[in-house]
Amino acid sequence: MAKLDPIVEFREDHRKVRDGLMKLASAAESGDLDTARTTLGDINVAVGPHFRYEEESLYPAMKEFLGEYVDRLIEEHDGAIKTARVAAQILSQSSVSAEEGKAAAGAARALLIHVSNCDGLNILAERFSQAKLDQLADAFQKSRDQGVPLLEWAEKIRERKVAA
Ligand SMILES: [Fe+2]
Repeated sequence: MAKLDPIVEFREDHRKVRDGLMKLASAAESGDLDTARTTLGDINVAVGPHFRYEEESLYPAMKEFLGEYVDRLIEEHDGAIKTARVAAQILSQSSVSAEEGKAAAGAARALLIHVSNCDGLNILAERFSQAKLDQLADAFQKSRDQGVPLLEWAEKIRERKVAA
């Protein structure tokens, strides 16, 4: 199998998650709970391997360009995990009030900011050596193959814990 291109796939993930979050926000707001739940589930599955790849491989590599700023990226992930938990908690209820639907939509929109910020890292990733890009490709592939959803990864695998 040809190696994945870590720059292309990184952006592809962001597109998928962007579209998912927009769909989630409008479904949660309009009270379409089935769509909101399914979409959140899809996002959780897509984002898990992405975050894991970022924290285990991409961010450490980014220290070459960003130095200690990388720590801020990890803190941003803490916030994203918290926000995803809030949305999941709201949507796991058997019925969701209009106000709660709005809160879930707000959570989805807050996560969009992370998608937008994160995509900017690609402009830096283009400056990695080919050897580094090859390593990142392998790491990205491995994380996808393992396929651990976001909230499960955050709870069971990620060493850094986010308080509820
Ligand atoms: Fe990202």
